[in-house]
Amino acid sequence: MSRILSLIAGAFYTPGGDVPIPEPKVNVRTQYDKVGEDYVKAQREFIKKNGDFATDFILDAVGDLNGKTLLDVGCCAGDHLAIYESRGASVFGVEPSAKMLEIAATQIKDQSNLKRGGSDDIPFSDNEFDVVTARLSLHYIPNLDDAWGEIGRVIRPGGVLAYVTPHPFNTSKRIGRRDYGEVSQIGYKLLNKVGVINYHHPLQGIFSPEFFDRFVIEDFNEFLGQTPRVKSSKGPSAFGIKARRRE
Ligand SMILES: C[S@@+](CC[C@H](N)C(=O)[O-])C[C@H]1O[C@@H](n2cnc3c(N)ncnc32)[C@H](O)[C@@H]1O
Repeated sequence: MSRILSLIAGAFYTPGGDVPIPEPKVNVRTQYDKVGEDYVKAQREFIKKNGDFATDFILDAVGDLNGKTLLDVGCCAGDHLAIYESRGASVFGVEPSAKMLEIAATQIKDQSNLKRGGSDDIPFSDNEFDVVTARLSLHYIPNLDDAWGEIGRVIRPGGVLAYVTPHPFNTSKRIGRRDYGEVSQIGYKLLNKVGVINYHHPLQGIFSPEFFDRFVIEDFNEFLGQTPRVKSSKGPSAFGIKARRRE
């Protein structure tokens, strides 16, 4: 939508909802079949050099994992599932890339706990998990309400959702800060190396009425002063949320 049209449409937005959702231009669901191996390599190098602020946040948010059932949404090659398993969780993963699932199967004890699907299509039962994590994987669908519905369904009442997702301060730069209030498909080089396509979501699209119907936020972190981007004054690249499923 042009800037003028979006400003006109903006006049009709209701607070807390009604963020326009576009039809996807490109199907982004299985792109990690092609770019996943390069991503995993680049990500491991990045973490070795800079630490892993996102996983540190998630581990802090989920607390003691002993005896807990944990689902990682967008588990990719299973690097983080292996960490959660080493801390005592029974781990499960959902991921749309068949290729990444093959690698994940080599990293955890029970490969039958890995299923093909997405944040908007989670092939597990209602109330099955004590904990759901999503590390940099929720921004691959246009309508986050589909994820809140599915995650809210599989997490037990009182269970914890911990996720880290790109900050709109960062993703809106990729659309030149035009049309901030709309969901837009964006393409860029992840970790300055791996070409991916995913979505800019305005905060109002992330923290929608459907989110608050299901979850109460218990912690929020913009990693100010922690990430390489923030340290080089480029502003926050991501934020983390700890939320609890309403009883
Ligand atoms: C940037 S990677 C993050 C992977 C891993 N969680 C990590 O932190 O390294 C994004 C992941 O989201 C997955 N993904 C893409 N579309 C998805 C969807 N609709 N639902 C869940 N995950 C999706 C990709 O296949 C990929 O594994």
